[in-house]
Amino acid sequence: MKKDKSNEAAGKLFDALGKLFMIYFDISYYGIKKIKVKSAMTWFYITLALMIIFSLTYNYDFLVILNKILPFAFTDTVIEFFVKLSWVKYFLLFSLGALFLSFPLIGAREYKKIKSYQNDFNFLSLKAGNGTAPKVIRVIEVDDYKTKVFLKSEGIGIDRYQSKVSDLTTALGQIVEDIRPCKNPKFVEFSLTKKSLAEKVSYYEMPESKNSPYTFSIGESLGGFLTQDISTLPHMLIAGTTGGGKSVFFKQTLVSLLKGSNNIQLYLLDLKKGVEMRPFEDLPNVKVIKTEKDAVNVLKNLRNEMDRRFDYLEENKLKEISPKRDKMDKIIIGVDEASVLYTKVKSDSAKKKYITEARELTDELSKLSRAAGIHLILATQKVTKETIDTKVQENIGGRMCFQMNTLQGSMTVLGNKMALNLPDIKGRGIWASGNKFTEIQAPFLSEDELETELALLGKEYESKTKTFFGPMVALEKVEGEKKKVITKASENEKEKKNGSSEDKTNG
Ligand SMILES: Nc1ncnc2c1ncn2[C@@H]1O[C@H](COP(=O)(O)OP(=O)(O)OP(=O)(O)O)[C@@H](O)[C@H]1O
Ligand SMILES: [Mg+2]
Repeated sequence: MKKDKSNEAAGKLFDALGKLFMIYFDISYYGIKKIKVKSAMTWFYITLALMIIFSLTYNYDFLVILNKILPFAFTDTVIEFFVKLSWVKYFLLFSLGALFLSFPLIGAREYKKIKSYQNDFNFLSLKAGNGTAPKVIRVIEVDDYKTKVFLKSEGIGIDRYQSKVSDLTTALGQIVEDIRPCKNPKFVEFSLTKKSLAEKVSYYEMPESKNSPYTFSIGESLGGFLTQDISTLPHMLIAGTTGGGKSVFFKQTLVSLLKGSNNIQLYLLDLKKGVEMRPFEDLPNVKVIKTEKDAVNVLKNLRNEMDRRFDYLEENKLKEISPKRDKMDKIIIGVDEASVLYTKVKSDSAKKKYITEARELTDELSKLSRAAGIHLILATQKVTKETIDTKVQENIGGRMCFQMNTLQGSMTVLGNKMALNLPDIKGRGIWASGNKFTEIQAPFLSEDELETELALLGKEYESKTKTFFGPMVALEKVEGEKKKVITKASENEKEKKNGSSEDKTNG
């Protein structure tokens, strides 16, 4: 009888120990997975930590402490065993111990996350034919708001998850943005978000940038409204498949810039016959260019203007153009559907000549124009080295990427697949600046609203409440020498002569 009881107790103890080991291995497994074995930094930290701990413990003080806390485990025999070890053996034993402890420590957070998501999914009581439930295998926190959860689906189809979206939302306490099969269709990926972006954000919801000139709206992110100063970019790329919202974004950017600042000149190259840019044409500080030939001419003249500005900077020992101080406008060169202008053609036609020239000029402008206050905005469906020169791409500081339908497309613009994974919402894009990627909903400005805004701007230029210095760069080929360098001194002279009546500045 007594023997039975003690056997039972031993069995229970054995079971418990077994369970403990299972949990230990479970947690350690996530820890091991998290360790980036190939990273030199990982090994540096591991070595450093071992060295520190080793040098701190090799004096055995810690054994005395352990003996006081746990006298039954750290008996004199145990202590003697440690003290008698050679330092090499001690170090090896110690490293091994540390390794076994560190795995579960590193994996604990991941394990907790996975268990918690597993619990939430268990609420759905989704089961395959043989009674197995889907298993959470990985959780990635994309940012403060977004999480991706990967499930081993155990034979449950996507449609069954989709039919339970509302249950899932309440179980998880997060919005289910997307459910899609992974490359290996045994696995399913859930995109969850704590807050969701609006599906449409009106241009008028964006904060006005009246107090910070040369700033435009990017859109609404989960963290709030984003704006950007074009001076710091200095060039921008807008990419995405057809219908994603490039042209709308392009136009709202221009309106946003014009509304918030004086002293801007716009040169809009729109080789789709100028349809998109037509509404801007009536403004005195805008030129819309519709043919390859004009495009090349205007780019050449702008390149000359850039050279002139550099001469001016050098002569006056200045670093960069400040429109107010130097009485020169900021110049924005916008190209909608850039691939139409830049895509190399094979035939030996006049078109080929224009395209080659346009590419070279754009390359020159993109490299140098920042200090000269000249900025490029390029919108295009395709981004390859055939459409936009790699050299130009290197000089682009800000990228707005709407949905892309190929992995390669997303990779070339952003260097990751974020644009491929975007939900199918017009105006939804990724804003990439430096190595930061933010999902945004771009401001929507309808055609009617655009017309209204441009009409208002037209009136402001007419009444000189909004101004620019001018003159505009010519569209035609300008023969002969570069224009004489205008220095600040000679400008002041001229101003003195003319008095301030001709003042075109905005003060
Ligand atoms: N930010 C936005 N919010 C809501 N809807 C938008 C937004 N941007 C664009 N749309 C809608 O999508 C349509 C297509 O947008 P847009 O013309 O800008 O696309 P695109 O990327 O320029 O396409 P394409 O490559 O064919 O020129 C618009 O007519 C508009 O209805
Ligand atoms: Mg377009």
